[in-house]
Amino acid sequence: MNKKSVAVLISGSGSNLQALIDACAAPEFPAKIVHVISNKKDARGLVRAKEAKISTKVISHTDYPQRESFDAEVSKVISAAKADIVCLAGFMRLLTPGFVKEWQGKMINIHPSLLPSFKGMHTHEEALKAGVKIHGCSVHFVVPEMDSGPIIIQAAVPVLPGDTPEMLGERVLKAEHQIYPHALKLLASGTLRMEEGRAVNTYQAVHEYTLFNPDVRF
Ligand code: GRF
Repeated sequence: MNKKSVAVLISGSGSNLQALIDACAAPEFPAKIVHVISNKKDARGLVRAKEAKISTKVISHTDYPQRESFDAEVSKVISAAKADIVCLAGFMRLLTPGFVKEWQGKMINIHPSLLPSFKGMHTHEEALKAGVKIHGCSVHFVVPEMDSGPIIIQAAVPVLPGDTPEMLGERVLKAEHQIYPHALKLLASGTLRMEEGRAVNTYQAVHEYTLFNPDVRF
């Protein structure tokens, strides 16, 4: 099988990276992770990558005076790894429009809210503050405006009485681990593309949203 090569960008724990690593282990999965880049040298995700025998690189943003020069280095490393697809998995840096345009249609991100609600940080606190009864996560194509690209797939979880941001975040994270590999599968297999500002999935049998149920497997 001609698998697509993927670079994953992380900053922290890397549990979404782990979900992608686990999915890629299946022989029929249409993608393989060829490189993991972190802007933080102590990111736990780097250990996960090493355990999976995936090459890693730390590119510390503090070594670069401008966002442009940091992004240029990241792009150079992704290209050198011959990646076809870029997955942002808890990567906590804003990317410059130039970088985003270079990878547009080939770069996806997981965000812990049902977009377009609760863009940015602290999404679980914001969801509790707003009093929503349903919260969740979204995988979207990356465009220059933060958390605004075409939505590929979403999963919804209930907000339960007595939830703290941590409890809600944990519930959402489990859903993230389900939908991110699924979105990558769609993109890598060629059934999904970004077209005129929309995520177009030509494989109609696949649901583009789900009510999170840990027993459901795509
Ligand atoms: C996830 O909630 C992701 O949606 C957000 O940051 C968190 C990263 O978690 N962007 P992890 O590093 O994948 O464990």
